[in-house]
Amino acid sequence: MKKAAKQPAKSKSSAKPAAKPAAKPAAKSAAKPAAAESMNLTENASGQNWTLPVMSGTLGPKVIDVRKLYGDTDYFTYDPGFTSTASCQSKITFIDGDKGILLHRGYDIVDLAEKSDSMEVAYLLLNGELPNLQQKTKFEYDISRHTMVHEQIQFFYRGFRRDAHPMAIMCGVVGGLAAFYHDSLDINDPHQRMVASYRLIAKMPTLAAMAYKYSLGQPFIHPRNDLKYAENFLHMMYAVPAEEYKISPVLSRAMERILILHADHEQNASTSTVRLAGSSGANPFACIAAGIASLWGPAHGGANEAVLNMLHEIGDKKRIPEFIKRAKDPKDNFRLMGFGHRVYKNYDPRAKIMQRTTREVLNELGVKDDLLDVALELERIALHDDYFIEKQLYPNIDFYSGITLKAMNFPTAMFTVLFAVARTVGWIAQWKEMIEDQGSRIGRPRQLYTGEKQRDYVPMSKR
Ligand code: CMC
Repeated sequence: MKKAAKQPAKSKSSAKPAAKPAAKPAAKSAAKPAAAESMNLTENASGQNWTLPVMSGTLGPKVIDVRKLYGDTDYFTYDPGFTSTASCQSKITFIDGDKGILLHRGYDIVDLAEKSDSMEVAYLLLNGELPNLQQKTKFEYDISRHTMVHEQIQFFYRGFRRDAHPMAIMCGVVGGLAAFYHDSLDINDPHQRMVASYRLIAKMPTLAAMAYKYSLGQPFIHPRNDLKYAENFLHMMYAVPAEEYKISPVLSRAMERILILHADHEQNASTSTVRLAGSSGANPFACIAAGIASLWGPAHGGANEAVLNMLHEIGDKKRIPEFIKRAKDPKDNFRLMGFGHRVYKNYDPRAKIMQRTTREVLNELGVKDDLLDVALELERIALHDDYFIEKQLYPNIDFYSGITLKAMNFPTAMFTVLFAVARTVGWIAQWKEMIEDQGSRIGRPRQLYTGEKQRDYVPMSKR
């Protein structure tokens, strides 16, 4: 009888009953919204009617505010996979999936990828505006002062098998940072939040390169603060103490672009994981470790590794139809990796830039990769196939990033690690935004329970 106690007439919240309960379901003509920015909800069985507020952002669809829905109506909403649910307000990134548009703080990803660099984009994501020269110089300096890791951290690595997947290592060591940097764990102190943010952005490339070096059995290479962010990462990945390592400007440019293209992508699985972990007040190192874990899956950041494995498996253009057939077969769980996206129902704008970058890298390095030919042919066939057209499945960023990274000599297992390095700034910006939002609360979804009703305990002798 809980419901009776929550009759809409007693509502004291924003979800107020309409003056007269609607006799019929809230068909558009029957239910006049109480205000311009509201929606009516009608329980067909009883005819009870509630008015729900509608909120508008600066871009994108309006949202129906259901925060008070349960309290007022005794109903939850059901949305597994969050296909229709806005979990937060954010000023950081906007995606129009139908048009294939991606904006960071209002700036188009195409402009940022072509005209900006990774540190400028990091500053933009964190602070909301592009930096002037002085701000950028200071930001780069501050980040560069945090690139080293505590000497004890190398012993974490030594506990892993040499053939450990580097994402497994990253999940562990990034969470472990909280054990070292006690002076930046108070999330309520803006200065400590900033220091933790800088530490994470600065140390991720160091930790990632250490994971790679460990797998090779080579000595860890210390960061060099005179190098740019992307250059320093390449240096730590590929330098050895025995000889000088010359950083190719082509590779560092490509790395800059990869960092920019992966920097943030709104409320995806890993970012939502970071926010959810952070909503409990967990420290930022733990939150980013949670994001890394979520990113690892093949439906998300693990797709770049999966694409390359798939292209290897296809091996030859002649075998493409066989794989397309499998991808379309509902009984076969094989999917074309690097295709499809929850939000983009058009070309992923990042994939277009990535495709160009792939060609540039292959041309300038003089690498001939048959897998690129297989990828291009696969893309061509899929884009003309009715199944992919009807389901609006286009190549996403991961379709091309793997080939680029392979040409740059990254082992396949490092692809997702690279994604994590690049996405750290986005995770941090979103985490910071959430902590600074006075209205944010611990994330606590509800459920539609379909299990047993309450029943009596059965003693062992009677089972
Ligand atoms: N190959 C074949 N069929 C597909 C594919 C694919 N790659 N992607 C989706 N479909 C089909 C799917 O079987 C479903 O068919 P039906 O309507 O008959 O059930 C329909 O398209 C809708 O798919 P969905 O799984 O309901 O869509 P989703 O929004 O839940 O999943 C996705 C999005 C990205 C997880 C999915 O497209 C996928 O698994 N793609 C391959 C993995 C991949 O490339 N992931 C990287 C995403 S971009 C990088 C990032 O931001 O993480």
